[in-house]
Amino acid sequence: VPKADLLLLDAEQVVTVDDGRPGPLRGPAQSNVHAIERGGVAILEGKIVDVGPSEDIRRRYPDARARLLPGRTLLPGFVDSHTHPVFATMRENEFAMRCRGATYEEILAAGGGILASARALREMPEETLLSLLLGRLRGMLAHGTTAAEAKSGYGLTVESEVRSLRVVQAAAKAQPVTLVATLLGAHALPQEYRDDRDAYVQQVADEMIPAVAKAGLARFCDVFVEKGAFTVEEGRRILRAGLAHGLLPKVHADQLRDGGGALLAAEVGALSAEHLGATGAEGIAALAKAGVVAVLLPSSCLFLNLHFRPNARAMITAGVPVAIATDFNPGSSPTESLGLAASLACATLGMTPEEAIVGITRNGAAACGLDEEHGRIARGRRANLVVLGAPSYTFLPYRMGTNLVREVYVDGAVVVTS
Ligand code: NIG
Ligand code: FE
Repeated sequence: VPKADLLLLDAEQVVTVDDGRPGPLRGPAQSNVHAIERGGVAILEGKIVDVGPSEDIRRRYPDARARLLPGRTLLPGFVDSHTHPVFATMRENEFAMRCRGATYEEILAAGGGILASARALREMPEETLLSLLLGRLRGMLAHGTTAAEAKSGYGLTVESEVRSLRVVQAAAKAQPVTLVATLLGAHALPQEYRDDRDAYVQQVADEMIPAVAKAGLARFCDVFVEKGAFTVEEGRRILRAGLAHGLLPKVHADQLRDGGGALLAAEVGALSAEHLGATGAEGIAALAKAGVVAVLLPSSCLFLNLHFRPNARAMITAGVPVAIATDFNPGSSPTESLGLAASLACATLGMTPEEAIVGITRNGAAACGLDEEHGRIARGRRANLVVLGAPSYTFLPYRMGTNLVREVYVDGAVVVTS
């Protein structure tokens, strides 16, 4: 008799997102979540050892302890492929200013926004930053996120960016959410460098990247390519320097206007291009050709009340794999809910529930280099699972703003119950 130490049985659906092939789902394949009706899984020593119809699983493991999930839906643990969770303080006052008519870019240009976050982070001791991050990760886990990409970018000095990434590394060891770190030293031009942009770009390329790579503190290097942040040329220089030190490129591209960010991502062979709110046909074609994952962030579009949206449909039609993430950060997206992001992907980007669910699981995992272990329910993979308090996966995007997550398992152990 095969062995299992836990069975999860009688779920209305087990959403596997698995077809046995590696990599993200793209094109028409992104609309198949590979759900098993009345399904179950068997878990042994933290790994999934079997998936299928409940009656088969029950029969194969007659002696194993079983937890029954009638009326519920079982999904892979969610993967948040774009977050900025290492920051000192929330920026609720800027939100209030924006409600009164100030714009996001005006606030940044006046030394607020990312620059205000940088001033606050530089003052904060490392252990305080760590305990704040741990609290935010508990919030993410409660919303079903079991793996996430975490960017630095609120330090903007070599020392404080390294410190931010050390905090990510310490947090990764101290709690259940898997983290992959991204250096975003080029998130904004620090005020001290206002009159010497080149010196800051050079510092990122020649000091920050080598220091981070040498200490093994990041897997990826990102740059905010935008008017008011960094140019395509500066981005290219930084991403090439990252590549030379083994950091794979990611790009904050075309968030507020089509400034060639997607083309740069394709040119340097980035794993992902993120935001893409204003990316046009040429950028989309380049992403498709280069196999770059598009990470779309509908909650930040909503929160900034942008009058345009990423063209998710054109991306999917062109064969670009689309991931959906929260962009969790204190300025443009103070939410840790991937369920909400999935709702907004459907309601405001014209994606289907299936495409959105693939976006927060398998394609999210692919966007942050975690496809081998995360984002699907399949034999041999880590038993990272979400139990949804609803009878089908469609409820996840449908119940906008309501946390339907009832239980979360990491490596077969319950880490959230509600
Ligand atoms: O992804 N685009 C740049 N960075 C963040 C916002 C950072 C902030 O406002 O603190 C974003 O939206
Ligand atoms: Fe971002």
